[in-house]
Amino acid sequence: MKVLVIGSGGREHALVWKLNQSSYVEKIYCTPGNAGIAKVAECESISVMNTKRLIQYASKNKIDLTIVGPEMPLVAGIVDEFEKNGLKIFGPRRRAAELEGSKVFCKDFMKKYEIPSAQYRTFTDYDKASEFLNYNKGPIVVKADGLAAGKGAIVCQNLEQSSKALDLIMKDRAFGSAGEKVVIEEMLQGSEVSIMALCDGENLVYMLPSQDHKRIFDNDQGPNTGGMGAYAPTPCMTEEMLKTIKTTVMEPTLKGMQAEGRPYKGVLYAGLMLTDDGPKVLEYNCRFGDPETQVVLPMAESDLVKVLMASIDGNLNDIDWKNRKRGRSLCGSCFRRLSRAV
Ligand code: AMP
Ligand code: GLY
Repeated sequence: MKVLVIGSGGREHALVWKLNQSSYVEKIYCTPGNAGIAKVAECESISVMNTKRLIQYASKNKIDLTIVGPEMPLVAGIVDEFEKNGLKIFGPRRRAAELEGSKVFCKDFMKKYEIPSAQYRTFTDYDKASEFLNYNKGPIVVKADGLAAGKGAIVCQNLEQSSKALDLIMKDRAFGSAGEKVVIEEMLQGSEVSIMALCDGENLVYMLPSQDHKRIFDNDQGPNTGGMGAYAPTPCMTEEMLKTIKTTVMEPTLKGMQAEGRPYKGVLYAGLMLTDDGPKVLEYNCRFGDPETQVVLPMAESDLVKVLMASIDGNLNDIDWKNRKRGRSLCGSCFRRLSRAV
């Protein structure tokens, strides 16, 4: 098969690295790719948001399977467009990707389907949001509704910080139109874990639970980031906890999305806080986590192409995701060393 990966980061490098081990794969392409990826795949400089050119490129090169790395093209509907052109692509359609694309949609969805999450209010009006913060002066989280490259959730300790966060999102429009609406929610305490599962609309195949380092500085200091590094497996995940997450979060999410007429295919990523009251969802991502993918894929034994094709074709119930019994996650330098070797 000829496989195309869309994206240019460490996550896409990990995908290409894993695809390169598949017996189904004849050639790998990547748009736009990066210098490391170029050692394994043919790279072409096309923006991840240029759907028209990507479709032309996939058609011209007779690509059998396309895998989308970042959230922006998924939320914009790249899967719908590829499918209209008869091209096989792995990922959720636009309406399903809204789970990540709109925090308001995501929170209302979780409320409707009783999926555990933080208490919240949503606002489109700055003054009303500001008034709410004045009544809730303690620790609180202010979130821009739309995509903000992982920086739109601001964890605040007091009114001064939450007012600043609201101004940044709604007044300064630091995240553009993503700040037209805000979600203000209860601050949850606990350890954070990332659960990724491949979905075919009805069935889920779980990858290894992982954790990423959120804060920019050592010792969990500084503002949140999209992830400064990751590790898997995670020591804080017991079999029992995983079972709870499957039955209270992952399965109800898939069923709920089906009931909403937005069947979910692709990677469903739940970012969870393990609180004293059980696991609660902080966010969903509609794609492979970054940097979690860089540690989860090296631990996987399964052929990635086989699983992704089963997800597209609705056959995931026939598939098992097998992890190495023993192994270790790779740090950045080991990953680069191994990548050079393939
Ligand atoms: P989000 O963009 O919603 O995924 O949030 C990004 C990060 O902000 C999460 O990974 C958490 O570290 C933090 N965060 C988000 N919501 C909350 C919350 N309700 N309580 C505590 N931390 C949160
Ligand atoms: N590491 C968090 C994310 O992929 O959004």
